[in-house]
Amino acid sequence: MSDEHVESMLKVDEVFQPSKDVIERAWIKDYEKVYKHSIENPETFWGEIAGELEWFEKWKKVLKWEQPWMGGASWFVGAKCNITYNCLDRHVKTWRRNKAAIIWVGEDGSERIITYDELLRNVNRCANMLFEIGVRKGDRVTIYLPRIPEQIIAMLACARLGAVHSVVYSGFSATALQNRIHDAESKVVITADCGYQRGKCVPLKNIVDEAVKDCPSVEKVIVIRRQEPKIKLEPKDIDWHEAMEKASQKFEPAVMDSEDPLFMLYTSGTTGKPKGVIHVHGGYMVGTYITTKWVFDLKDEDIMFCTADPGWITGHSYIVYGPLLNGATIIFAEGAPDFPDPGRWWGIIERYGVNILYTTPTAIRLLMKYGDEWPERYDLSNLRMLGTVGEPINPEAWLWYRKVTGSRLPIMDTWWQTETGMILITPLPCTKLKPGSAARPFPGIEPMIVDRNGNPLPANEGGFLVIKKPWPAMMKTIYKDPERYAKYWQTINGFYIAGDVARQDEDGYFFFMGRADDVIKVSGYRLGTAEIESAIVSHYAVAESACIGKPDALKGEVIKAFVILKQGYKPSDFLLDEIKKQVRKELGPIAIPAEIEFTEWLPKTRSGKIMRRVLKAKELGVEPGDVSTLEE
Ligand code: PRX
Repeated sequence: MSDEHVESMLKVDEVFQPSKDVIERAWIKDYEKVYKHSIENPETFWGEIAGELEWFEKWKKVLKWEQPWMGGASWFVGAKCNITYNCLDRHVKTWRRNKAAIIWVGEDGSERIITYDELLRNVNRCANMLFEIGVRKGDRVTIYLPRIPEQIIAMLACARLGAVHSVVYSGFSATALQNRIHDAESKVVITADCGYQRGKCVPLKNIVDEAVKDCPSVEKVIVIRRQEPKIKLEPKDIDWHEAMEKASQKFEPAVMDSEDPLFMLYTSGTTGKPKGVIHVHGGYMVGTYITTKWVFDLKDEDIMFCTADPGWITGHSYIVYGPLLNGATIIFAEGAPDFPDPGRWWGIIERYGVNILYTTPTAIRLLMKYGDEWPERYDLSNLRMLGTVGEPINPEAWLWYRKVTGSRLPIMDTWWQTETGMILITPLPCTKLKPGSAARPFPGIEPMIVDRNGNPLPANEGGFLVIKKPWPAMMKTIYKDPERYAKYWQTINGFYIAGDVARQDEDGYFFFMGRADDVIKVSGYRLGTAEIESAIVSHYAVAESACIGKPDALKGEVIKAFVILKQGYKPSDFLLDEIKKQVRKELGPIAIPAEIEFTEWLPKTRSGKIMRRVLKAKELGVEPGDVSTLEE
């Protein structure tokens, strides 16, 4: 571990009390009272929140909970709804009709402002376009787009029609995209000719062409052509703009059961194959609505800037669904935080008067590296609330984030997952803050730190994080893999196991220490060691590989790969480069190992399983723990 990293994990004992004006403005002023009510009367609590939204038919029961292998949790049983009705129609009926829903900012500074009314009309057009080409309720549609408004329009159009969207992050390679299209058996893929990243065009349509070559389920590819001269289309392709122009602006939202799937999102686990996490209309709607409102203290006058990409869960829940359910104005920015210069985000905050900024610890550390002078150049006085997500935030980055934004703002360090759909552990604006801690559970959530057998652990002892009871935005299942879903609840005592290691201090504050399994967080991106290893092994010269996450001062973790070459091959810079290229081809640039070490031996159990834990301990110079199962 580098000295810099050890330094950055130093404990900070300072506690920050919320200021009076923050508490006065907050939706929730007394956390303890609300939390107590939520735990004692969970169905009343969630039912009241659901009552703030509009339903076509009301639920017969708030929650039906059986063991996962019997059907799991059903929320708002028997209710009928459509999440887009609450994101769009509910606002268009009111004064919010002409309010800005999306302020989009391009890398070159270009701008588009889309009102709620305009967004609804575009979503309807897109739903009609999809219906026209045969997309029906329950069909899957893969969305492979850069951060442009059409990405949000396409997601909402699928939901309006009752189709299931599968957004794939546009940084994934053709092979990774193909695997996801295959598994989902998508009928349609929506893409663009180009996504802009640091001034360069990433040719997304070429990647889609390569991916769909072997995907027989795909009937049509819809293409947004942004460049001039326009790229040529293939017989399977449809031009987005032409089809949208012809489509009607009216489309009645499909009447969905509360438990009908809304979207699937692939995420990495401990095995090589990514899992398609399914979320549904009813519970997900309630969970994302209320967490956005209470955690960020979102009010009608606010502008929220969540810097995530809708290719990941944060973008789904806190760019698209949560803010739109609340009728908020969102900033949606294409490109990197430090291009054309490190003032990019600070400039956006000044220009649009952003009130809420929600980003990742990696992005904060990156901006911190460029120094205080960048935020100092801008007027950030409209900021009222900060948030972070995706990985543990080191106290130094936390303190810097607060300092450069005026030393007065609350920071919501929000812990949650693709599977949880919504924020589960987080401060609220009215709670005191401890740098590096995600604070306490959101109302209605019952987390616990336990040992392997489910026994609760005393304060400050690290253990497995479990959630004792279901919550509304929890995943419904894993697509085509109910056993994998059941495992989340079967491993420890019928609790939900998150896969994280954490401790709780004497005040009940949670401190996250990393993953307990083979999941790595690189710059907050979630990757599985097994999928990286399988990409490496697909190289002709590689016999075996093992990957570990190694602490990194900027990215949180980076990938280190150990590689055994096949007989007849010798380690060389050429092969090193080739293996990196192979990973880029199979998965994408985010999965490229920072370090590759050629080796002739890997620690294995007697049954042949690689013990990554031993490799990691060796790498970090610490004791490997129990090695009794290690082969001779
Ligand atoms: O390890 C935890 C880490 O991110 C994992 C979930 O990753 P993903 O499904 O990609 O979702 C990320 C965005 C919600 C968790 O198991 N994680 C997320 N937020 C935090 C965190 N670790 C520490 N502190 C957080 N605030």
